[in-house]
Amino acid sequence: MQTVALFPIQKTKHSKLHEVDINNAPFGKVFSDHILIADYVEGKWRDARIVPYGDITISPATSALHYGQSIFEGLKADRHINGKNICLFRPEANFLRMNISAERMCMPSITEEIFIGGIRELLNLDRDWVPTSQGCSLYIRPFMFATDPYIGMKPSQTYKFMIFTSPVGAYYSAPVKVKVEQHYTRAVKGGTGYAKFSGNYAASMYPTKLAAQQGYDQIIWTDGQTHQFIEEAGTMNIMFVIDGKLITPATGDSILKGVTRDSVLTIARQWGMTVEERPVPVAEVIDAIKTKRLQEAFGAGTAATIAHISVIGHEGVDYTLPPIHEREFSNKVYRELYDIKHGIKPDPYGWVHVL
Ligand code: COI
Repeated sequence: MQTVALFPIQKTKHSKLHEVDINNAPFGKVFSDHILIADYVEGKWRDARIVPYGDITISPATSALHYGQSIFEGLKADRHINGKNICLFRPEANFLRMNISAERMCMPSITEEIFIGGIRELLNLDRDWVPTSQGCSLYIRPFMFATDPYIGMKPSQTYKFMIFTSPVGAYYSAPVKVKVEQHYTRAVKGGTGYAKFSGNYAASMYPTKLAAQQGYDQIIWTDGQTHQFIEEAGTMNIMFVIDGKLITPATGDSILKGVTRDSVLTIARQWGMTVEERPVPVAEVIDAIKTKRLQEAFGAGTAATIAHISVIGHEGVDYTLPPIHEREFSNKVYRELYDIKHGIKPDPYGWVHVL
């Protein structure tokens, strides 16, 4: 049956699909054939369309470049085990979070029709870009930025919303070594930490570079006021298994409400595990490592999926965590999510759109 497209579609005449190996693509460097673009003008989203992926032209005075009104999302689509269908994971959650970010950054909300409808339409068009090999996905990047060519400091009147996709492999190819950051601050109470706002990521780059010079892959951010409580890892939320309980910092102003985070907690509760979302003191984690009560530590994120943490650096001491093969919960929850995302197991949560 022929379905009617939601948006005008201009198909590419020069597909790049045969030029790349989508099953071996490095993270974030290869882009599929099409992009969705919509313009916010005079108080309304207009002219949503799908066109060939390519460069765009903007004014040097584009306000997003100067004052940072720029937000984004990240979600994934995977190849169904039947090889034919595509499984899109929890787009409703990203849609809701995008509009939470938009409100905080004084930007207009996007419509569900453009956000979710746009993703579905793009996936229908570029379905051959969804990788088939294990551990690879099609990463979907919706984003919005302010486009007024104006250097006064005020919310822009005009915006662009776009969605493009990118076949990706693992974000972290090995377990990560992280440093507890107790000098620099990612976010504070009343700030923008809960928004998926580009500036949060920009602010994390310098401390992350310093940590990389000391041999770490990532930072564990601590609260901006006391630096005594763990927050998140910048590219992912963070979780610990201590004495058999799943413990993770409670979200608030300064922590991103991760979709993978929520999925992991939901599955853990479903399995009957004790889950604690609460302030997590650095001292508690270090003590649990020293007394061998910390069984697992991992990051949870769309790009990172479940990223095992191998080493935690704190006050100049590197603590090596238990071997990966002994980590019962994180290995099992990774598999569970994988199976749900690929249609291998039924999806009791209603998370997956099968296209
Ligand atoms: C994601 O996990 O989707 C993110 O946006 C993190 C980014 C650093 C790739």
